[in-house]
Amino acid sequence: MTTQTSTNSDLRSGAAKAGPGFDGRALRDAFGSFATGVTIVTTSGPAGADIGFTANSFSSVSLDPPMVLWSLARTSSSIDAFRNSAHFAVHILSADQEALSARFASKSIDRFGGLALDRGPDGIPMLQDCMARFACKLAYQYEGGDHVIFVGEILDFSHSARKPLVFHGGRYGMLLPKQTAAAEPADALSNLSSDDLLYQVSNAYFRTRHAVIDKLEHHGWSAEEYAALSIIGREDGLCIPEIVARSEKLRGQAISAAIVQKLIAHGLLREVDSTDGQARIRLTPEGRLSVMELIAIRKSSEADVQGSLDPSEVQLLKHLLSRLGNSADAVTSVEASKPRR
Ligand SMILES: Cc1cc2nc3c(=O)[nH]c(=O)nc-3n(C[C@H](O)[C@H](O)[C@H](O)COP(=O)(O)O)c2cc1C
Repeated sequence: MTTQTSTNSDLRSGAAKAGPGFDGRALRDAFGSFATGVTIVTTSGPAGADIGFTANSFSSVSLDPPMVLWSLARTSSSIDAFRNSAHFAVHILSADQEALSARFASKSIDRFGGLALDRGPDGIPMLQDCMARFACKLAYQYEGGDHVIFVGEILDFSHSARKPLVFHGGRYGMLLPKQTAAAEPADALSNLSSDDLLYQVSNAYFRTRHAVIDKLEHHGWSAEEYAALSIIGREDGLCIPEIVARSEKLRGQAISAAIVQKLIAHGLLREVDSTDGQARIRLTPEGRLSVMELIAIRKSSEADVQGSLDPSEVQLLKHLLSRLGNSADAVTSVEASKPRR
């Protein structure tokens, strides 16, 4: 291993720009505009202690010989361990490993507590179940201002095809591949192409809803019964007109009051008198069991239709659909406030 003081002219000119009056916050923000993956770098301390920290300064360097680099703040509690260890390991995190990243960036916790570990060269800790893992021999250390740059030669590595955890602007994120398929030409009559957002949303809605309804019917429930029981399951004590109004808002189509009466006749709902003169509808104990059965059916249909989507994609889809719904609400309220022609 060689320790070098950088003589690179680019680095020197970069350092020259940073002087008093240079806005540190702005520089951080500018650095943060570069999207990176997230890694955990590990090694062993002098007494064999497991050492590790979260790093996004990782970069591949060379294919032949295979080399990587990353940098560590000189003030880090781990600096001596990394400076004095002949080996380190880099673990690239997948989209579902945000908690692991946070753990290895936190002070005063046992970062390795309860984690299953493999052992690399010199017994360095190697985390399991990461997206990629590199066991390295330390090749060079460079002084890099308030950081030290470590360059290592790869001794061994493994890799699995997963979605990466992303870090950008101080926040975690997920990767969304740009759509590469050419959009289909618009249908001249409907003026709707299958690439249109509203077409995609309504098409996905009808197809996924179909899958749920098929499953419900298979278990002897109609879509209307499901709607009525889910509404009461969420808001026990509504009156019939409120249930009908909620169903219209949720499904775009109101259920009939007769469905509620049918569920009362079957002993799943009951009418309770209230002081305002409107009978309130409540679940019976049998009704409560039915709601639980319906939730289980819905969850199982949800798992079916998610198909090949991974958990991070499902999370992203929910987030985007919720934002889309909110912006649609905003448009609706603006339109409602305009005078009608
Ligand atoms: C996403 C992310 C990336 C980070 N990347 C680095 C890095 O590349 N180098 C570094 O020195 N610190 C980095 N940090 C900060 C360290 O993980 C953290 O400050 C450090 O582990 C604090 O503990 P220590 O002083 O005991 O090392 C990063 C933190 C996060 C959350």
